Amino acid sequence: MDNNIITPIKFNNGIITILDQTKLPNEIVYVDLVTVEDVYDSIKELKIRGAPAIGIAGAYGLFVVSRNSKALTVKELLNELKIKGDYLISSRPTAVNLEWAIKRIVHKLNINIFSTTNEVLEFVSSEAQLIQKEDEQTCYKIGEFGSKLLENVKNVLTHCNAGSIATAKYGTALSPIYYLNDRGKNIHVYADETRPLLQGARLTAWELMKAGIEVTLITDSMAGFVMAKKNIGAVIVGADRITANGDVANKIGTYSVAILAKEHKIPFYVAAPLSTFDVSIDSGDDIPIEERAKEEVTFIGGRQYAPDDVDVYNPAFDVTPNEYITAIITEKGIITPSYRANIKKHFE
Ligand code: MRU
Repeated sequence: MDNNIITPIKFNNGIITILDQTKLPNEIVYVDLVTVEDVYDSIKELKIRGAPAIGIAGAYGLFVVSRNSKALTVKELLNELKIKGDYLISSRPTAVNLEWAIKRIVHKLNINIFSTTNEVLEFVSSEAQLIQKEDEQTCYKIGEFGSKLLENVKNVLTHCNAGSIATAKYGTALSPIYYLNDRGKNIHVYADETRPLLQGARLTAWELMKAGIEVTLITDSMAGFVMAKKNIGAVIVGADRITANGDVANKIGTYSVAILAKEHKIPFYVAAPLSTFDVSIDSGDDIPIEERAKEEVTFIGGRQYAPDDVDVYNPAFDVTPNEYITAIITEKGIITPSYRANIKKHFE
């Protein structure tokens, strides 16, 4: 079972290889990331995507910087890592895991002493691998805690892809489903297709089918009717950034699903590692929301569906206010309201 869970990033003998998620599900293509620009472009173009996975990619991006650097002194290399780290962070602004991973390494570089540039390279390499390993363990724990909330649930609805390929392994929202499946309990997943970039259709449906989990694909506009008709016991989604008061930024459309869930009295769960929390921000109002190219909305599969000059608004994420969230599942346990106080306790 475990072997059928796909992982999106591999690091072998200094070579970073990612599964190109823009080609899924029609082609399974792996690409090597050789330069810092390769890493930046892969994140920006969503070849690698999902909050924890872009954090891991960013960490390996610093490894690429160290390996390709022409710096002659440790000081020069640390300076270059800081500058190129900021460049990598600028590739996508909403998921805080990217900034978290890069800042974690840069901070550790600043508080340790290195005699040679090679020592820096070795350090960055082991830190990036550690971030990846920790994320896998974290996601597994999210699965374990989340499984307690889904034990008596037959059908869940999810939005976007917060699965194995959005993390080191197992995913966040999908991890409890894998965990339970492994123990003989089969949950049926209704996956929103997730316009405009179809992460639900292209990625969630694909990875669940690969893992042998029952999945039914629906368009985003069907979510309310499915909640009314299909005995949905829970909605479970991932997150890109969670603020001190428990507001959650996640893929555009999540907010609408949360409102629908409340109306249908269905629990709405968010699954996310602690690296997705940004307690320096008080509420969702201050989360930077990425806006992407208008062509993502006007074109589907290379064909244009809207007039040339139409005005388009294309936010990649929205913010679900905390009052719609039944619980947040982390690797340290389940956080319930009141969020401000309980999130604070989680970070003490
Ligand atoms: O634009 P994407 O595909 O990177 O958006 C992904 C999401 O919104 C996920 O739900 C989130 O990053 C959590 S992934 C475990």
